[in-house]
Amino acid sequence: MSCKHLIDLNDFAVEDWKSIVSLAVKIRQSPADYQESCRGKLLATLFYEPSTRTRMSFQAAMLRLGGQVIGFDNPQNTSISKGESVKDTIRIVSGYVDLIAARSPLEGFARAASLYAGCPVINAGDGGHLHPTQTLTDLVTLQEEKGRLDHLVVGLCGDLKNGRTVHSLIKALGQFAGNRFILISTKELTLPDYLKHYITARGGQFEEIPRLEDAMPALDVLYMTRIQRERFNSPEEYARQKNIYVLDDKKMKLARPSLRVLHPLPRVDEIDLKVDNDPRAIYFDQAVYGMYARMSLILHLLNNPHPKEVPLGREYPGVRCANPNCIAGREPYLPQTFHKTESDLIACDYCDEQVYLGEEGK
Ligand code: CP
Repeated sequence: MSCKHLIDLNDFAVEDWKSIVSLAVKIRQSPADYQESCRGKLLATLFYEPSTRTRMSFQAAMLRLGGQVIGFDNPQNTSISKGESVKDTIRIVSGYVDLIAARSPLEGFARAASLYAGCPVINAGDGGHLHPTQTLTDLVTLQEEKGRLDHLVVGLCGDLKNGRTVHSLIKALGQFAGNRFILISTKELTLPDYLKHYITARGGQFEEIPRLEDAMPALDVLYMTRIQRERFNSPEEYARQKNIYVLDDKKMKLARPSLRVLHPLPRVDEIDLKVDNDPRAIYFDQAVYGMYARMSLILHLLNNPHPKEVPLGREYPGVRCANPNCIAGREPYLPQTFHKTESDLIACDYCDEQVYLGEEGK
């Protein structure tokens, strides 16, 4: 059964993802059939962090479904700048609209917002944590371009540590049989351990290969990502990592004719402009698939007759999340709750950061 909110794609059943993907494909084929589907409905896009694709594709999606949109893209122009809490902002906005799509640099923002919202909340990206609607975009793209979501060799290249699009995509594709992940990154930007465990716990495979050239011949899909300057603690740290991976024509020559290159965008220097002319480069099409994915998601959430809430875990006396980017440390009224992970550890309900309690704390 489907959830009321979309915080983490894995809160939904795989059957729900399949139905969202297949509806997106149908809408793309016959958009006119859906142009009145959200007449009288209102979406709020609350963006505390910059965006081109996610915000505008949500807006275009709602307008193309016959609905309307309000929102902000700069919280400094709202009462947030006067110190209004997330809790109060969300309570107010959810009284005006039928659906909220929210992006924040704080990890766990959408989960926190969902606790106080009277309408469904969609996570439109929360810091370096998750970006589930990008993943729906990627699933629609793969379904349309590769014809399947399983038995794919998927290379993921760049900032695998902070890349929320990478994290969400691995969690999604890890649920389908036979997918193999080739992780291409520096050792500083390697995939977090909990995601490696996630892959193997489901019978999936991964391999870490430091050179993009070495990975190219094996790939069905290459998912390039930007080294995200905004996620580094210092300019020096960023400078050490940028420009290590650049996809160019020479590397494309090593790949199969059936390769598809995806990128959530924005691109900086990691894909040479000449690659745009290669028919295997489909990142601009991917951004358009994203609008159909979001149209389908909006319909799914608004027409969901029996949504379930994902309950919070439990509090552990004196234990707080140590992640400095987690919303739990910024909004003092939030319950400090934790859930058990698959490896029987404790993780923050908002940002999934693991906490080590010691033997006596368990
Ligand atoms: N892919 C993506 O999230 O792009 P924006 O940051 O432009 O929304």
